[in-house]
Amino acid sequence: MGFSSSAFLGLIAILVATLGPAVVHMIKVGGPFLTPKSTVLGVGQGPIIIEDTVHCEDVHYYRPANLLFTACEDVKETRFDWFPALAHFDAKAAGRGSIHVVDPKTFKSTRLTLENFNGPFVTHGIDVIPDPEHPAAVYIFAVNHLPNPESTPDSPSIPTARSQIELFHHVLHSTSAQHVRSIRHPLIQTPNDIYADSPTSFYVTNDHFYRAGLMRLVEDVWPSAKWTNIIHIQLQQLHNVADETAHLTASIAHSGLWNNNGLGHARSESEVVIASTMGGELCLATRFENNTLSVHDTIVFDTVTDNPSYYVDPYASDGEDASGFVVAGVSQGFYLPQTGRDPDALEAVQVWYAKEKRKEEVGASTGGWEKRLLFEDDGRRIRSASAAVLVPVEQREGDGSEGKKAWLFVTGFLSESMIAVLVDL
Ligand SMILES: *[C@@H]1O[C@H](CO)[C@@H](O)[C@H](O)[C@H]1NC(C)=O
Repeated sequence: MGFSSSAFLGLIAILVATLGPAVVHMIKVGGPFLTPKSTVLGVGQGPIIIEDTVHCEDVHYYRPANLLFTACEDVKETRFDWFPALAHFDAKAAGRGSIHVVDPKTFKSTRLTLENFNGPFVTHGIDVIPDPEHPAAVYIFAVNHLPNPESTPDSPSIPTARSQIELFHHVLHSTSAQHVRSIRHPLIQTPNDIYADSPTSFYVTNDHFYRAGLMRLVEDVWPSAKWTNIIHIQLQQLHNVADETAHLTASIAHSGLWNNNGLGHARSESEVVIASTMGGELCLATRFENNTLSVHDTIVFDTVTDNPSYYVDPYASDGEDASGFVVAGVSQGFYLPQTGRDPDALEAVQVWYAKEKRKEEVGASTGGWEKRLLFEDDGRRIRSASAAVLVPVEQREGDGSEGKKAWLFVTGFLSESMIAVLVDL
């Protein structure tokens, strides 16, 4: 740490005394004093380790085909040297990751062959949406953190990374994806996650204002550093676009959140869930026709909130709806600047689930969220966690609400494998 722990505790005491609840919450989220715990799993609850899922930051459940999609680094070494999302800029030898499809019935991962696509692929957030013209196909949007060819050691003002978005087309149950085009714009600076509403329209978060250095650290710990934004991109042309910057327009869809990070589809077509990561919050926003976003509700957690997903309970009935938001995060983000550099370190994790309280439970007007810890680990079964999704287990007649179970798939930006554990909802 560089300073003594008593001085550190003294500093925290002063901050708590002067700034109060916001700092108490910040300390809970950062977790410096947390003792990591591990959920005890019963017989048949896993964890099932998904082979060949190395450093997959994001995972999506594509309900229409009962398949999971993820984007991985694929090797264990490269991310510790080059991963702009953790401010790792040591090597310019960026990795060549890939998109994987995971079958939640067999727990097997298949790497897709990326056709018409060469060069590095440093993966991060993705989104997967149906192809409106071909029901058996999807479009996959994926962040790619490329090195900037214009950056040199003598040009500190030129950013080291030049991240862009890749768009792929994939026919379900095939083993390949076709690269459609790349997308680059000056407003996309530190892209993290994507929410697509059509093949030609999507949102992308910039997770930091500063790419590196002390100010980036300040941005991570200071609750008033509400400097991040979300960009909307409209594509005018999908095919035969050789220039990444051509045939597109960009605009700011939202700004003023602290560390906006993961994006997810939510309860309706027009609702977007945005994670304010170090704020430990999920912000529910409305997507307007003019491509701006407006936050209308917030769910507060005491842990880092990374990529959110929304679970739709296929067995929902009146009063027995297990639909809810799922969010994973590291539980001691405070230590990430050190552990994130260390191939042998561990990051403890927590996965939370938030279900809307029934109106009759809380009185007609208030609503609110019932939050539950679904899974936690000290880092030995899964190192780091940045995304989690629930896949329903078939419910038999008469199971009632007691019988609702789902497989929880958890993945992390530094996890050697995605895991699946069986949970009760
Ligand atoms: C976008 O539309 C919403 C809802 O109609 C409106 O409140 C907002 O001011 C509009 N924003 C811009 C930038 O036009």
